[in-house]
Amino acid sequence: MTAKSANPIESHLTRRDFVKATAGLAATSVAAGALPARAWAFAGGTDRIKVGLIGCGGRGTGAADQALAADPGTVLWAMGDAFKDRLDGSLASLGKQMQEKDAGESAGSTKWKDKLQVAEDRRFVGFDAYRKVIESGVDVVLLASTPVFRPIHLRAAIEAGKHVFCEKPMAVDAPGVRSILETVAMVPSKKVSLVGGFCWRYSDAERATWSKIHEGAIGDVRAIWNVYNTDGWAGTTPRKPGWSDMEWQLRNWHYFYWLSGDHLVEQAIHSIDKIAWTMKGELPTSCVAVGGRQCRAAVPETGNVFDHFGVEYEFASGARAFHMCRQMANTPFDNSDTILGTKGTCLVNSWAPSHVIDGETKWTYDGPRRNMYQNEHDALMKSIRDGKPINDGVAMANSTMMAIQARLAAYTGQVVTWDQAMQSQENLTPKTWAWGPVTVAPVPKPGVTKLS
Ligand SMILES: NC(=O)c1ccc[n+]([C@@H]2O[C@H](COP(=O)([O-])OP(=O)(O)OC[C@H]3O[C@@H](n4cnc5c(N)ncnc54)[C@H](O)[C@@H]3O)[C@@H](O)[C@H]2O)c1
Repeated sequence: MTAKSANPIESHLTRRDFVKATAGLAATSVAAGALPARAWAFAGGTDRIKVGLIGCGGRGTGAADQALAADPGTVLWAMGDAFKDRLDGSLASLGKQMQEKDAGESAGSTKWKDKLQVAEDRRFVGFDAYRKVIESGVDVVLLASTPVFRPIHLRAAIEAGKHVFCEKPMAVDAPGVRSILETVAMVPSKKVSLVGGFCWRYSDAERATWSKIHEGAIGDVRAIWNVYNTDGWAGTTPRKPGWSDMEWQLRNWHYFYWLSGDHLVEQAIHSIDKIAWTMKGELPTSCVAVGGRQCRAAVPETGNVFDHFGVEYEFASGARAFHMCRQMANTPFDNSDTILGTKGTCLVNSWAPSHVIDGETKWTYDGPRRNMYQNEHDALMKSIRDGKPINDGVAMANSTMMAIQARLAAYTGQVVTWDQAMQSQENLTPKTWAWGPVTVAPVPKPGVTKLS
């Protein structure tokens, strides 16, 4: 993999949004300069908010850039990754970006390169890098590693009293979600913020649209139909001589469900989260799903993940939700939501972008469309400055569990209730982390693979 996100849509947006974030910073700096001194006081009486990045890939690098743009006092203080080349690549990319910002018209009084303060002894590599980042004196950590590690990393960060930006998914299995929920319960007593990477929840247009739905603009929600179809994937990482199984699988993590959760949990979870958001946190009583692996070549690089899923959730309120996702080359892209209510319909095509309600209420969103990834970090840093913590934890955990519930239903071919999913004992996390052999589980087979 290259240092950019493997998701072509998301990496494209990250680059485009970076330009917008750069343009927006002059205004941020002016506004922040006008803040009363009290609002500037931070831990230890300093203005600085020290940020640590854990997982220096495409999304992590983007998140670091956004954290630096979110507040004049943020500095990148420490970085951690499983691999040195990934860390070095991320730091070099950020260095280039800061240089461009310093040379750009919007630089203002900000010295962007001074925001990169990752001294050599605060660049950590290996499985314990996360702990060293957390112990390096940072105030905030950005969690953007391969998903399987998230419960471990989040637990360590919150226990240490750090503010957190946590990318989705929050786990790849039910034990991971249960761990996340335990950690989330600690957040209020730690008085820290936990902002989740379900980025549509920080998008201006989506926020306005879902507010309208929750206010009753389409009446009672009866059905949700949403789609996350992509035209394949950005490529595999062929194995190099000398790489252990662990190294190769980690470098090629999207294709191994023990690392990624499969693409339903890793990518299409954004759509599953929109279902959860529509239902205002009502959890599905049961789920039935189909899925398979029709187009992924039978080569080791494509691991053991499926390439398509179809999911149906049932809710006690009588509503149903249907989701389809696909990763197949040469097929059309679709990432849309249709929400049917007793008084109208809401059609969302987030990327178009188009947000329309029709029925008793007629409404089209025409407000601002700021960069949602930047909004996440603006909200996080503001919550820290204002001393008003955000805790996205429960919603993050529930959406992750809904996606895992659907994967369990598709892999086994069985109807899976919420309780069965929550109590699942399937633990995809190895007992120890070492650069050695890792057996790849066979591709799951509905009707044969058992629910555990
Ligand atoms: N919200 C969004 O729109 C969005 C977009 C892209 C990715 N993501 C999420 O962000 C996460 C990272 O995705 P990405 O596209 O940046 O992938 P990536 O492969 O580019 O980056 C992941 C990085 O984590 C590192 N890593 C692996 N194990 C680690 C460990 N134990 N400790 C520290 N670092 C470790 C990898 O070496 C790699 O550099 C994923 O969870 C993904 O789902 C979210």
